[in-house]
Amino acid sequence: MSVVKINVLTVPAEQREALEQRFGARAGLVEAADGFEWFELLRPVEGTDQYLVYTRWRDEDAFRAWMEGPMKAAHQGGGSGERARPAATGSEVWSFEVAQQAAPKTD
Ligand code: HEM
Repeated sequence: MSVVKINVLTVPAEQREALEQRFGARAGLVEAADGFEWFELLRPVEGTDQYLVYTRWRDEDAFRAWMEGPMKAAHQGGGSGERARPAATGSEVWSFEVAQQAAPKTD
């Protein structure tokens, strides 16, 4: 089964717009990564004020390969290689295995 890796971002209220704009202009490289299955930027509404960067992968190896290569390019933030000042003040990664899943019926 797939694995889910969630990057949990602490974002000060005044930085939210900047964060969303940065994701709006994101590199778009992850879509091409082997074993990539899904991405969502989740904006907090209730229960937390942390943004979640939800990613889903075929397996641990696929995630690791992305982290060791394309992930770095996708996090350059544009410009001359030095990362622009991050909008988030903190981050941590949560890891899950997909234990069960369902999708809507198609018929
Ligand atoms: C130091 C911790 C991290 C911070 C502060 C951070 C923040 C960001 C920001 C602001 C962007 C938008 C593009 C940019 O401005 O560079 C981005 C892109 C992205 N981040 Fe992170 N990130 C971190 C680590 C991670 C990790 C560990 C994951 C994996 C779960 C992840 C998943 C993604 C994905 C999938 C994208 C889109 C890349 C693409 O379109 O190719 N990030 N991140």
